[in-house]
Amino acid sequence: MPVWINGELLPDNEARISVFDHGLVVGDGVFETIKVAGGQPFALSRHLARLATSAAGLGLPPPDLEQIRAGVTAVVQTAPAVPLARMRITFTAGMGPLGSERAKSPATAVVALAEQQSPAEFVDVAVVPWRRNEFGALTGLKTTSYAENVRALSYAAEHEAGEAIFANTAGNLCEGTGTNVFVVVDGRLLTPPLSSGCLAGVTRALVLEWAGGAEENLPVDALADADEAFLTGTTRDVQPIRKVNGSKLAAVPGPVTRKAAEVFGTQAAESPDP
Ligand SMILES: Cc1ncc(COP(=O)(O)O)c(C=O)c1O
Repeated sequence: MPVWINGELLPDNEARISVFDHGLVVGDGVFETIKVAGGQPFALSRHLARLATSAAGLGLPPPDLEQIRAGVTAVVQTAPAVPLARMRITFTAGMGPLGSERAKSPATAVVALAEQQSPAEFVDVAVVPWRRNEFGALTGLKTTSYAENVRALSYAAEHEAGEAIFANTAGNLCEGTGTNVFVVVDGRLLTPPLSSGCLAGVTRALVLEWAGGAEENLPVDALADADEAFLTGTTRDVQPIRKVNGSKLAAVPGPVTRKAAEVFGTQAAESPDP
């Protein structure tokens, strides 16, 4: 698959960034993951807007969104056709020293693509022993400092689960490593508010717009006690949760989940850049 770096399109085996790139050295960067179905990026404008928000939150210079959009088009147009792919836009502080201070360097922008399998019909989740800090400097930003998510996801795999769920410091339900979470309690569709420390997921926002639902703080145990629950995210769309910490939920998928998945599928097919 071709890779675009700072305006240049390269074969993936020739795509290089410096070992002094601050994104590599200290995770000083932001990113987006975008679904590309049948060669068409989904919700690109929302993802670019969030990239800019994350960059501003991290104190990076504003990304040139038109240049990155051109990179997205170039990569999609030259990539071999695959039914489903995952696009990654990475924007870092560029060259820097071997510590946390920043140099005034031009940023590094990368657009890469990889083929992706369709999401599984359902997922088992494990609540991890670590908390999301809803007061942290990076809260709500999609930064390349994702090692905490890598560790949590490996914990989930060790516990026979495909996604890890975090509570926040208040003990409330927050989010997954690459997903937002919805629960159905007494027939009501609920998801944690952004103040819980979760990322403002593009899929989460579209589900709230298209399928309804309310933002409400819930204790993390509400997930295991829910009538039904699902994850949302770019690589999963609306994915029913089957088990929480090894215990099966009452309905998989339940009627509210089924409806949300159906509405999301229909609307997304109608509007590729909603
Ligand atoms: C921590 C985190 N929460 C939630 C999400 C879901 O967001 P989206 O629906 O935009 O993929 C992601 C994935 O991007 C994420 O990394």
